[in-house]
Amino acid sequence: MTRTGYNGRFRYSTMSRFYLTTAIDYVNNRPHLGTAYEKIAADVIARYHRLAGDDVRFVMGNDEHSQNVFRRSTEAGLDPLAYCDRMEGEFRTVWAGLNISFDDFIRTTQPRHKAAVQAMVQHAFASGDIYEGLYEGWYCVSCEEFKPDKGLIDGQCPVHRTTPDWIKEKNYFFRLSKYRDALLEHYATHQDFVAPEPRRNEMLRLLEGGLEDISVSRAGQAWGIPLPFAPENVVYVWYDALINYAAAVGYGTDPALFDQWWAQTGEPRRQVVHLVGKDITRFHCVVWPAMLMSAGLPLPTQIFGHGWVLFKGEKMSKSLGTVVDPLDAVEKFGPDPLRLFLSKEIVFGNDGDFSWDRFEEKYNADLANNLGNLVSRVTAMADRYRQGHLRATPAAPHLAAAGLEAATRWKQAFDDLSIDVACAVVFQFVDRINEYIATEAPWKLAKAAAGGAGDNAALDAVLWNATEALRVAAVMLSPVMPAACDEIRRRVGDAPTGAQLLWAQDGQWRESGERFVVSGAALWPRLEPKETPVSEEIKPEVAVPAESQPPASQWPLESRISIEDFMKVDLRVAKILTAERVPNSKKLVKLTIDLGSEQRTLVAGIAESYEADALVGRTVAIVANLKPAKLMGIESNGMILAASPDGGKPMLVAFDQAPAPGTRIR
Ligand code: ME8
Ligand code: MG
Repeated sequence: MTRTGYNGRFRYSTMSRFYLTTAIDYVNNRPHLGTAYEKIAADVIARYHRLAGDDVRFVMGNDEHSQNVFRRSTEAGLDPLAYCDRMEGEFRTVWAGLNISFDDFIRTTQPRHKAAVQAMVQHAFASGDIYEGLYEGWYCVSCEEFKPDKGLIDGQCPVHRTTPDWIKEKNYFFRLSKYRDALLEHYATHQDFVAPEPRRNEMLRLLEGGLEDISVSRAGQAWGIPLPFAPENVVYVWYDALINYAAAVGYGTDPALFDQWWAQTGEPRRQVVHLVGKDITRFHCVVWPAMLMSAGLPLPTQIFGHGWVLFKGEKMSKSLGTVVDPLDAVEKFGPDPLRLFLSKEIVFGNDGDFSWDRFEEKYNADLANNLGNLVSRVTAMADRYRQGHLRATPAAPHLAAAGLEAATRWKQAFDDLSIDVACAVVFQFVDRINEYIATEAPWKLAKAAAGGAGDNAALDAVLWNATEALRVAAVMLSPVMPAACDEIRRRVGDAPTGAQLLWAQDGQWRESGERFVVSGAALWPRLEPKETPVSEEIKPEVAVPAESQPPASQWPLESRISIEDFMKVDLRVAKILTAERVPNSKKLVKLTIDLGSEQRTLVAGIAESYEADALVGRTVAIVANLKPAKLMGIESNGMILAASPDGGKPMLVAFDQAPAPGTRIR
């Protein structure tokens, strides 16, 4: 089936069934920016496919049967399953904060997963691919991997820099070696099976070097899935974990569902894509395909091995302790600036460094100064010159052509999984829109029209085309910045309905209808250099020698507080939702305020300066972490900041724009 989009000029085939997975995470720690990067990238890809009209199933999950998880649960004094339940909550909170739109979340302790693992292991055993043997060698618990001597550096695991355990136990082995030729054959006939190219080459070299059988069980452990034919052993955690991709679509429990998503034949076209980090490609590109061959199942369409997020040049890693909490960025900026940064600044497939400096630099450049500023200017002009009401005009040929060209490259980039290129293409189109405004100079057209010398129709056309171009740019950027792009569309008069956007409709350049443009506060207020996070940049200063000190201050040095003391005061932006005078009090007013994440009641002594009604809707600064206090019998949670002139009435601290409720003030 083929749908035609973009004024009939832009054609693409659609309705694939697109099954996308990420690695399932070990739950011995909370997610960090590196593990989050993978989920953000997958989410961007999933959202692009939904936008393209594909039937998408996007699955993530947690990998629970690892020894480190078991250890952590013991340390926490919890039953392992109770610990995993708790961690599921933690992971889901982070994924929700990042706006990750998975359709299903699998845990390896779920019955559907256990059923799938036992079915696959039993099948391999019955067909002679699993046999009993003795394993002796090194084992890195953090990798959950058996390590050959040549895989160690100075006797240590090169990834985790720890000495592996020496183990000697009776194990069951999987005949991996038997599948080497079939794997090489599959690689030869499916050029895109492993991507990007360096990963494919690495795997080919490994296959060419020959394969050894691998141990697929562990003896003397209780935390895991028992082997059906030797229940005193548990399935090796990697063999267990890989099967999640099949289990999540019904292998061993729901044959119809499995056929719908895993079968590689029939209509509509199916694609099964695994997105994983480059450190675990061997398991996904060699072991997993061999397991599928042994089970008589088709192989995935593609395994993409993305690169690492580095911090100060090193892999961001729980075990190495070099982690950034993704929710730190979300708390300050919302999820979209982080999603854009990671998608656009890291060449997809390569490693990329994260630093707060670079993040804030790109935030200012791409969002505050560029896209956000463009939205503000265009909507402000529509407001000023046409009271926000625009009627459709024909497309401006050069601008619409630039949009079409961008859309073609954007689609190609996403289909190639070059998500960084797809982002860059949208920002190139944003540059074209900026140029269009500069060339057409609507402010001149408005002045001429007002003076009777100009052409109202020309101004109408510029405003319509500029908002239309922004609308199309927002549709293109929506997989990366879903919430922000909804807001851009709302401002340019294409209010989101909550329905799934479809490129075939929403990507078309519109030349009919009318729209009501809404202007508002800056989408991304510019960050001043001083706002660089304190923790990294501000070091205690050496005390200034006495003779160079200024004359006695009201605030002598010895009474000053440290930055850490100040940071204990959690100042936040809040919006006043309701306000009413407290009966029998001259000064007090009772407020409900919105703090972004919650609403509260707060009592403030500002009734002499402000009418209750005039307070509603105002953005104010509050101390959010003050202990509750009772004022005239009402519990007040927090304190509003106001200037209190001697003998005068209080004046609320105000902002020159309205930051989102909950924004931190420091
Ligand atoms: O490996 N940058 O789980 P995991 C980018 N449970 N990606 C990173 C990263 C970084 N700094 N650090 C980790 C496991 N990742 C197994 C997977 S799948 C059947 C089982 C990626 O919690 C890592 O490459 O150690 C992997 O793809 C994912 O995060 C989970 O890592
Ligand atoms: Mg890992």
